[in-house]
Amino acid sequence: MDLSAIVDDTWAELADERGCGNPASYIPALAQVDPNKFGIAVATRDGQVACAGDADEAFSIQSISKVFALALALEREGAALWDAVGREPSGNAFNSIVQLEREKGIPRNPFINSGALVTTDRLIGDRSPDEAVNDLLARLRRMGRNEEINFDPEVARSESETGSRNRSLAWFLADFGRLLNPVEDVLSVYFRQCALAMSCRQLAESALFLAFDGTDPVTGQAMCSASRARRINALMLLCGHYDNSGQFAFEVGFPGKSGVGGGILASVPGRAAIAVWSPGLNRAGTSLLGAKALASIARRTGWSVF
Ligand code: DON
Repeated sequence: MDLSAIVDDTWAELADERGCGNPASYIPALAQVDPNKFGIAVATRDGQVACAGDADEAFSIQSISKVFALALALEREGAALWDAVGREPSGNAFNSIVQLEREKGIPRNPFINSGALVTTDRLIGDRSPDEAVNDLLARLRRMGRNEEINFDPEVARSESETGSRNRSLAWFLADFGRLLNPVEDVLSVYFRQCALAMSCRQLAESALFLAFDGTDPVTGQAMCSASRARRINALMLLCGHYDNSGQFAFEVGFPGKSGVGGGILASVPGRAAIAVWSPGLNRAGTSLLGAKALASIARRTGWSVF
């Protein structure tokens, strides 16, 4: 299979649709990004990365960071994390608060914002917020093979300034006694992890561990056990796109995680890690063109997990 040709053809097939969907505007810094950006990167076990378009331009990974935070929180907490956060689709928007009261402060899964706040709290553990951020950065720099990977302080500030909803979720969790750290400490790490800036190439390389039993097959670095990688993939498939997860599984058939910066990270177990980027979103916060690109790659490669 000529993956480079598949990636090039997918990009060319969809290039005319660049600019479709609505870029996130509730985080003002994200609204300034050129809506015509479109990148694709497919990383495989042999170390090749097939790229097209804006695959080497860093963008705000937003909720894609929740996958990495989950892997690291599980490393610290083990299965005890599941006492604090569930493993079921929520059927609600990513920033919804309604279920949280009915379900006594136990978020449905680690990818909705409330669940991600609990996960980030456990990622911090007994460390300072800065130590936790530095740990996350160090791991991503190693997995993404790039020492320059960092968060964008402008985006983090923009998120904090407009972060009333996330503050409400965090205070709600605190009221139920579900956070170990002070609310503002949890938020300060959460806003910075969401503001991580990475390119499609870096994201795809960083996520190879998900597709290959927890270990990067190129560098041999282990991120987690094989069973943990399998379970993270399961959660991505069921919850990675919030109330759009069913549609994504139906159209694409890869475990995936969206971010409101317009990125989608997908893992194809045993085959590849894929990252796409196009800022225009559907109503659930998934990149419209990014999802189409992944559907096209799934069709052309026959890689759907189903
Ligand atoms: O907390 C937020 O609302 C954003 N920083 C992240 C949301 C997000 O990326 C949702 N995913 N599609």
